[in-house]
Amino acid sequence: MEIYKTKQEVNNRINELKKQGKTIGFVPTMGALHEGHLSLIRCSKRDNDITVVSIFVNPTQFNDPKDLERYPRMIDKDIEKLEAEKVDILFAPDEKEMYPEPDTRQFDFGYLDKILEGKHRQGHFNGVAQVVSKLFDIIPATRAYFGKKDYQQYLIMRELVKRYMQHLDIEIIPCPIIREKDGLAMSSRNLLLSPEQRKSAALISQTLFRAKELTNMMSVGELKQFVVDTINQNPHLKVEYFEIADAETLLPIENWDEAKEKIGLIAVYCGEIRLIDNIEFN
Ligand code: PAJ
Repeated sequence: MEIYKTKQEVNNRINELKKQGKTIGFVPTMGALHEGHLSLIRCSKRDNDITVVSIFVNPTQFNDPKDLERYPRMIDKDIEKLEAEKVDILFAPDEKEMYPEPDTRQFDFGYLDKILEGKHRQGHFNGVAQVVSKLFDIIPATRAYFGKKDYQQYLIMRELVKRYMQHLDIEIIPCPIIREKDGLAMSSRNLLLSPEQRKSAALISQTLFRAKELTNMMSVGELKQFVVDTINQNPHLKVEYFEIADAETLLPIENWDEAKEKIGLIAVYCGEIRLIDNIEFN
């Protein structure tokens, strides 16, 4: 695997490969890689000649300094995993390389960055847009891969490309959520849970799966109440929000017939660790 730490070098290499007619798949990550990340890499390898992964813990998207500080970092282990997946190129810059000066750009995604995660993590999506727009300019890929685990982020990435990256021709490809055996959506933050918290966290996805079975029997309001109450009954868990929305627009619905594709999106505190998950209802 080729490893680059500077923008200039990786950009030269990508342009060279594109001149040779190669298609480029790009998987941006913050490292502490797990099967969720690896599934994106496998999708990229299936679709493209060359697969590029980036690892960069982006400070501008952390609204909580403690969250940034404790975010797991394990670059050597990550490199081993990437080698095993036969990734072609890793871009692993440091903070100075990505932000030689403070990024003051403000992105506007309409209502999409003001609801759900956007509402509860002020500035989060602006930080994501800052780093991903830089990464896309450095690595002008054919396709970029995002997990539906971060469903709102995936929709915002589609919007980023549409609104701000018209000079590039990058296709945003969504990939399914990868889960642990007990259903918990894989996340680098799961490493921060105590054994007891980890056990309790399984209730989040299990309740979402149960909710999917109950859509015919309950109204939208009743189902929302059911999910919140069931999860909050566990002393380790506290629901921050659970919304049922149109999966295309993320606008909340009040009746099942308001949208064709429906999705339930949740954020839950497990102790100090904030976990998100979602379930598509059809
Ligand atoms: P990170 O949390 O490392 O996630 C990198 C990619 O892996 C994202 O597209 C995310 O949705 C996907 N992913 C994480 N867990 C997953 C799971 N269980 N199943 C499927 N996909 C999963 O998301 C970020 O980093 C950052 O915001 C980033 C886009 C890199 C910008 O800094």
